[in-house]
Amino acid sequence: MGIFPVWMLFIMCFICSSFQFNPVDNYLIDCGSSKNTSVGTRVFMADNSSPITLMSPQTIFVNTTSKPNTATTDSAVYPSAVVFGGTSNYTFPIKKQGGHWIRLYFYPLNHESRNLSTARFSVSAQSFTLLKDFRPPSVPVVKEYVLNITSNSLVLNFIPYKDSFAFVNALEVISIPDELIPNSAKTFSPSGEQDNLWKHALEKVARVNMGNRVVNPENDSLWRHWDSDFSFLKHGNLVKFVENVRAVNYTGFSTNDIAPPSVYGTATQLDTESDPNTRTNMTWLFEVDPGFNYFVRFHFCDIVSPQPNQMFFNVYINSLSVVRDFDLSKQTSNILRSPCYIDFIARSSNSRNLNITIGPSEAYNAYPNGILNGLEIMKISDSKGSLDFGDTIVQSSTSKLKSWTIIGSIVVVIFVALVLALVLFIIWRRRKLAHANHAVQDQFGNKGRKSTDGIATISSSKIGYSFPLAVIKEATKNFNDGLIIGVGGFGKVYMGVLRDETKVAVKRGVPHSQQGFSEFETEIEMLSQFRHRHLVSLIGYCDEQNEMIIVYEYMDNGTLKNHLYGSDLPKLNWRQRLEICIGSAKGLHYLHTGSTKAIIHRDVKSANILLDENLMAKVADFGLSKNGPEIDHTHVSTAVKGSFGYLDPEYLIRQQLTEKSDVYSFGVVMLEILSGRPVIDPSQPRETVNLVEWAIKGLSPGELEKLVDPFLAQEIKPESLKTFGEIAEKCLAERGVDRPTMGEILWKLECALQLEGICVRPRLNTQPSNSHFEDSVLSTQYSVGSDIDGVSMSKVFSNMVRTDMR
Ligand SMILES: *[C@@H]1O[C@H](CO)[C@@H](O)[C@H](O)[C@H]1NC(C)=O
Ligand SMILES: *[C@@H]1O[C@H](CO)[C@@H](O)[C@H](O)[C@H]1NC(C)=O
Ligand SMILES: *[C@@H]1O[C@H](CO)[C@@H](O)[C@H](O)[C@H]1NC(C)=O
Ligand SMILES: *[C@@H]1O[C@H](CO)[C@@H](O)[C@H](O)[C@H]1NC(C)=O
Ligand SMILES: *[C@@H]1O[C@H](CO)[C@@H](O)[C@H](O)[C@H]1NC(C)=O
Ligand SMILES: *[C@@H]1O[C@H](CO)[C@@H](O)[C@H](O)[C@H]1NC(C)=O
Ligand SMILES: *[C@@H]1O[C@H](CO)[C@@H](O)[C@H](O)[C@H]1NC(C)=O
Ligand SMILES: *[C@@H]1O[C@H](CO)[C@@H](O)[C@H](O)[C@H]1NC(C)=O
Ligand SMILES: *[C@@H]1O[C@H](CO)[C@@H](O)[C@H](O)[C@H]1NC(C)=O
Repeated sequence: MGIFPVWMLFIMCFICSSFQFNPVDNYLIDCGSSKNTSVGTRVFMADNSSPITLMSPQTIFVNTTSKPNTATTDSAVYPSAVVFGGTSNYTFPIKKQGGHWIRLYFYPLNHESRNLSTARFSVSAQSFTLLKDFRPPSVPVVKEYVLNITSNSLVLNFIPYKDSFAFVNALEVISIPDELIPNSAKTFSPSGEQDNLWKHALEKVARVNMGNRVVNPENDSLWRHWDSDFSFLKHGNLVKFVENVRAVNYTGFSTNDIAPPSVYGTATQLDTESDPNTRTNMTWLFEVDPGFNYFVRFHFCDIVSPQPNQMFFNVYINSLSVVRDFDLSKQTSNILRSPCYIDFIARSSNSRNLNITIGPSEAYNAYPNGILNGLEIMKISDSKGSLDFGDTIVQSSTSKLKSWTIIGSIVVVIFVALVLALVLFIIWRRRKLAHANHAVQDQFGNKGRKSTDGIATISSSKIGYSFPLAVIKEATKNFNDGLIIGVGGFGKVYMGVLRDETKVAVKRGVPHSQQGFSEFETEIEMLSQFRHRHLVSLIGYCDEQNEMIIVYEYMDNGTLKNHLYGSDLPKLNWRQRLEICIGSAKGLHYLHTGSTKAIIHRDVKSANILLDENLMAKVADFGLSKNGPEIDHTHVSTAVKGSFGYLDPEYLIRQQLTEKSDVYSFGVVMLEILSGRPVIDPSQPRETVNLVEWAIKGLSPGELEKLVDPFLAQEIKPESLKTFGEIAEKCLAERGVDRPTMGEILWKLECALQLEGICVRPRLNTQPSNSHFEDSVLSTQYSVGSDIDGVSMSKVFSNMVRTDMR
């Protein structure tokens, strides 16, 4: 009999020590509940079953049966709460002094006797103000703090605002490993160190896992929730998300407790593959309260380089360089895939933004690259021990007040009141958003390609961010008709502005149409799998309340169609048109070849090619896209779909769908670009109503000029026109097999751009023949990467240079 418990104990100790940090103090309270509640592997105790004492002049326990929808597993603690009518406190006995998490869970659950949304209160612990004049947002929120507890007990005070009350749904007080937070960290401007971090309270502002993956508390040894970085990224299109969790090899520069493998094993990387000459930064924007210092921790792990000493980059906080030419290998003694981290203190500023930037290094002739795996930002309590923004403002204003005249001070008081009101409003709004963010569900999370071991596989597939409907409504002023920028079969498209001032295009599907829903799903799926500078980027989606909303990057210059005809926009010149043509061809080429299975767009037309502020073309609208034929080229699709005038006749007749159907439609777009008129124009004389029919006759030499947009007449060089005409003609070939591939078209278009028709391609040693599309050398070159700018060659080249230098 005696052996059994010992054996059990052994197993339990083994589990504790090998998998999870074992905190000395570990209080988990499901406030207001009469029973213990499991959250993942942890149990939150009923309020009355613990050594914790609650002292309060007036409490009520409330509970409901409905759980809020949260992405994390913590939803079980929200249906109950304890409500405090007066100043109240929880006292926790502390066995081990030192750093502790304090996590406070708030959710104004729906209760008939009391509307918890009207609560207003402050929370303090030791000498620190954790929350001041807090009004809970309508979504679940977890506030998280780190406190160095320096006595044998922790008293957590809840102080209701007068005439109001306080509440809390759940509490955690947990010891953390001593090494988690250092006592000092490097600062910049003024440079030096900030000491005595332990004397401050820290509040989590952001904890982000790069690589667009959420990490739930169950996958973190200290039960931290890591948000996905996607929604913080300033530009989503020049980065790629990579994943290789199994490769992570802790060798002492970081530990599993500092951050788990699921954080180090995913990363966001600069995407220089499509164009190694682009020198671009990746930046994440975080909203912070001005006037505080922030503790910033960067987590790195090189899960992408095949060997050490290949990853150099610069790290910036608020555009200030904090590490130049950072060599990840040096940081980890040349051990690849070894996690490490670096800490900084960002000094207080007046900005409401904290910007984190990773940019390519110019040193060592490095291939432009950069990576970030995780990021934590914590607010450091001010000299008064407060973490509340309102406090700082009031203090600084009132100290000035004294020396001012009475009239002046009245003005100041009014001003302060206004500022305060604004600040509270901002805080309230920000929290609301932050919590909405928290509640994100990534239902498309499993569509990503799984990484295998060995070299990191690039997961080109990523999840769009699920927006709360409230955020969309705010961005579009509640779907204001004045913001409509387009109307299509699917529904209306609005211009919207997110809180960080990003402009977005919001496509709102007509609800309740089954057809629409499958297209909605297809589009999100396609856009989340494919990212390319010439494909319009997905920012997120919203499917709350039967809505079908897709949020895209905003394209300042609208559709190509509008620039060609039927609007007052200035006409595009020939060079611009060619570049747009090349851009959209790159986008389509990527769709056709970027993954193992070709994707057929199925609705290529000038209205689906969008132009950004620099008139760069991006292909849009993937609602009809389909995976192409896999092995045989005889895929028979069930229903013919597409746009009239652009439809491949072969597809129409034989219902055979291949990439070449897109090529046909692209040929039609080329004709539109050349002629500046619609495909079907009833106002034209009978024989020229249908642009394609007319063009096929007109494409013979000598006739071509008749097609050209009169606006361009003087501009086009005959050679360029000839090449362009040849490509269009090939694209419009009756049989798909006779049409060129997008890669071939791209090549020829770039030739046309060189005006003389001479292709200057120094990196390739093949001299392509000008008259033939059937050039096998070219097609193999094209099929390797996501873009065709000789990427692989230049990469090899830069690697060679680097090897030579060593
Ligand atoms: C909910 O509250 C009622 C009384 O108000 C109590 O009897 C019941 O046990 C509570 N349920 C839970 C799950 O705490
Ligand atoms: C909750 O769990 C604790 C420890 O496991 C136990 O002592 C207590 O009786 C439980 N309370 C209830 C209501 O089940
Ligand atoms: C805790 O609250 C009770 C009742 O509100 C009060 O009497 C007591 O002084 C408080 N204790 C501390 C340490 O603040
Ligand atoms: C907590 O604070 C005390 C007193 O300032 C200090 O001695 C101790 O090292 C600190 N510990 C941690 C883990 O912060
Ligand atoms: C609760 O209060 C909030 C804020 O005052 C209000 O918006 C909401 O409608 C109220 N809910 C109920 C059920 O009364
Ligand atoms: C981790 O790195 C160490 C040090 O280079 C190496 O000896 C070990 O084999 C690595 N472990 C794995 C699993 O790759
Ligand atoms: C996260 O935890 C779940 C369940 O514990 C596990 O199945 C999954 O593999 C973990 N994910 C990662 C990335 O470690
Ligand atoms: C952060 O980026 C935003 C948006 O680009 C910019 O407005 C702001 O000035 C930047 N803040 C700092 C401190 O660099
Ligand atoms: C990256 O950002 C830093 C800081 O804002 C700036 O100095 C640098 O020029 C940027 N680099 C590129 C390539 O945009």
